Amino acid sequence: MSKIFPATEETIEKAAKALQTRGLIVIPTETVYGIAGAAGDDKAIAKIFAAKNRPEFNPLIIHIASVEQARKIAVFDDRAEKLAAAFWPGPLTLVLPRKKDGSISLLATAGLDTIALRLPRHETARKLIQKAGPLAAPSANPSGFLSPTRASDIRPEIQSAAEMVIDGGAADVGLESTVVDLTAPTAHVLRLGGFDPAKLQDILGIVEISDGAGEKPKSPGQLLKHYAPKTPLRLGADNPRAGEALLAFGKNVPSGFSIVLNLSPSGNLEEAAGNLFRYLHDLDRKGVSSIAAMQVPESGLGLAINDRLRRAAASFS
Ligand code: TXA
Ligand code: MG
Repeated sequence: MSKIFPATEETIEKAAKALQTRGLIVIPTETVYGIAGAAGDDKAIAKIFAAKNRPEFNPLIIHIASVEQARKIAVFDDRAEKLAAAFWPGPLTLVLPRKKDGSISLLATAGLDTIALRLPRHETARKLIQKAGPLAAPSANPSGFLSPTRASDIRPEIQSAAEMVIDGGAADVGLESTVVDLTAPTAHVLRLGGFDPAKLQDILGIVEISDGAGEKPKSPGQLLKHYAPKTPLRLGADNPRAGEALLAFGKNVPSGFSIVLNLSPSGNLEEAAGNLFRYLHDLDRKGVSSIAAMQVPESGLGLAINDRLRRAAASFS
């Protein structure tokens, strides 16, 4: 029997009950689908790590439905208050000092003194959190695989670990949230993602991007090889190889490729971000021998798109 349910009130009610009895639910968010468990329940959290085959040193993002709820579990300074007021709900995750009230599983935060919080924009996710309480929800992919942006892209090993998959349609951002660390005087972007980091500058002034390119990333997840399709991917669109597909961007598309998927023919980076994981999943299904990816402009959401493409290519080099 399929575990995929439409995002109705009835489904949300059922899912909330399952979460309260330590079940896992695959939830839609505006960034990517997540595999969610009750944030305070060690056993539910342990199931998430097992389902994803995720190393336990890599902490999970805790999803809340209001700033009020967030303030109960983390210390908000002036910067955090301003960012939350300006950009929540949305694809921005804040890393803040953790309040030690015992309400959040230590396994979820990997024992760190900090906690990553996100208030998703997707209505289904928010309604579910309102009913079930804060949810730990990493992306709904096995570690090292592409994040799913549609219910149909969720792999069988994740589906079988969950009680239900809630189908909330195609994710409209399409990239994981941007993770910003506010635990030091200078803010650091730990993971580039679906929120343009340039928008942080008005509130934060200087923002450093330390997304794991260095040897000692602060966000443990950035240590890992990530975001890889099954099909080998290389950067650059010169000299097409036999059976190779082109992941293109913009108007000037090189010729000679048998299959071309264009992330955004008009050169729009938001559109490209929304299509990236979807197209990589589609190319995996088409069974092409390899993928040549054009790079996109290195600004705005282009920073995150190029980051994902570089990581995908690195896992085949
Ligand atoms: O868009 C998203 O953020 C999605 C959806 C489902 O909300 N979730 C997601 O979770 O991408 P996940 O677990 O795949 O990625 C969480 C990232 C990892 O790189 C992890 O290392 C980092 O956030 N992280 C979590 N807690 C942290 C902390 N206390 N300090 C630094 N990094 C942290
Ligand atoms: Mg992930």
